[in-house]
Amino acid sequence: MSMIRIRPVKRLNGEVTVQGDKSISHRAVIIGSIANGTTTVTNFLTSEDCMATMRAFKAMGIPIEEFDDNKLKIHGKGLNGLVEPPDVMDMGNSGTSARLLCGLLAAQPFFSVMTGDNSLRRRPMKRVVEPLRQMGARIWGRRGGEYLPLSIQGGELKGLFHRMAVPSAQVKSALLLAGLFANGRTTIEELLPTRDHTERMLRYCGVDLIRKGTTIAVEGGQSPSSRDIEIPGDISAAAFFIVGASMLKGSEIVIKGVGLNPTRTGIIDILRQMGASIEMDNLREMGGEPAGDIRIKSAPMKGIEVRGDIIPRCVDELPVLCIAAAIAEGETWIRDAAELRVKESDRIAGMAECLSSLGVEVETFEDGMRIQGTKRLKGSMCNSRGDHRIAMSMAIAGLAAEGETLIEDTECINTSFPMFEETLQRVVVGR
Ligand code: S3P
Repeated sequence: MSMIRIRPVKRLNGEVTVQGDKSISHRAVIIGSIANGTTTVTNFLTSEDCMATMRAFKAMGIPIEEFDDNKLKIHGKGLNGLVEPPDVMDMGNSGTSARLLCGLLAAQPFFSVMTGDNSLRRRPMKRVVEPLRQMGARIWGRRGGEYLPLSIQGGELKGLFHRMAVPSAQVKSALLLAGLFANGRTTIEELLPTRDHTERMLRYCGVDLIRKGTTIAVEGGQSPSSRDIEIPGDISAAAFFIVGASMLKGSEIVIKGVGLNPTRTGIIDILRQMGASIEMDNLREMGGEPAGDIRIKSAPMKGIEVRGDIIPRCVDELPVLCIAAAIAEGETWIRDAAELRVKESDRIAGMAECLSSLGVEVETFEDGMRIQGTKRLKGSMCNSRGDHRIAMSMAIAGLAAEGETLIEDTECINTSFPMFEETLQRVVVGR
């Protein structure tokens, strides 16, 4: 089992880039594979999760060339170009791969089976399986289709209207992808807005989508056109550095070329509300997505209440937000975040255990937690529970803690941010 040892540092300083956005990288492979023609993808995230998606499309007969510098050439074969994979497809730790592909596979004229690692095989799948079944899909799995492995006999689908019970971009995306192949119109209603990368990329590739208020709809039979995609840096990766620089006195860093899609920037809004100094600059568009540079200077932060609409806009950043809350003045409340219980691990239980090991007072609820800020974090020994975001959050906490912090089970970082330690080394100013 690999581990990371973190010593306290003085501050963070300098200019960095973070790796390509994970959500957008998955979508580039998926949409590029069903587009007509060749898609060149630059700044693709070569992490384990995105490689699982890529392997699946290679297994379904899509030639994908990989070059240095995180560049891919995907030779898409259009809506009817995928072929039956000859073996079980392993999605590893990646919920996005499993759920988005479930939508796509349900519509293919072949049989497929997908599985995943210990964590993924415990994550709920009925949220995609049920609406797909209503579209006509034939899907089998443990507990009536709740858990992987899933076997899918694809076939003709009909459009449906679906109101999402939980805000989930993965469910929305799975249904939009299935809807591309379905007869008629597929409409999804979301009660709270979730990340809209699938919609943006489909539109960027010429697919017509109809947005009306809280609904998004797609008419079946539209094939995306291939178009080159430059992937912006991942704001979820940048978040570790934003929190680190905000809390270490005297820090100033610039993170270049980060995706600033408003459905993802909740962490910036929250940290600013806590008192952080974060400026955005050099705003531009990358592959149909808003992007820019982010400048962070350290600033004193105070606790706040985080709940409601903002939760889906910062859902993956809540673990590192816990670290900001731990050193902020006063209490921070996180509520309406029950989804954290079914991520790569139960992140409410996992972060509560880690925060306690740092000497932080924390109370948990079914849908969140209360964190009492403290001026002093003590170095600790903790376990990530195989969850990449908990591992990296604890590494950031360790920079500000007294003594040494030892984080066990850190291979999981490779699922989303293989360059995490190198990137951190570039900006730390030692004691
Ligand atoms: C993702 C959606 C979110 C997020 C996950 C990536 C995506 O999951 O937590 O890391 O790429 O669509 P949910 O759809 O379960 O909220």
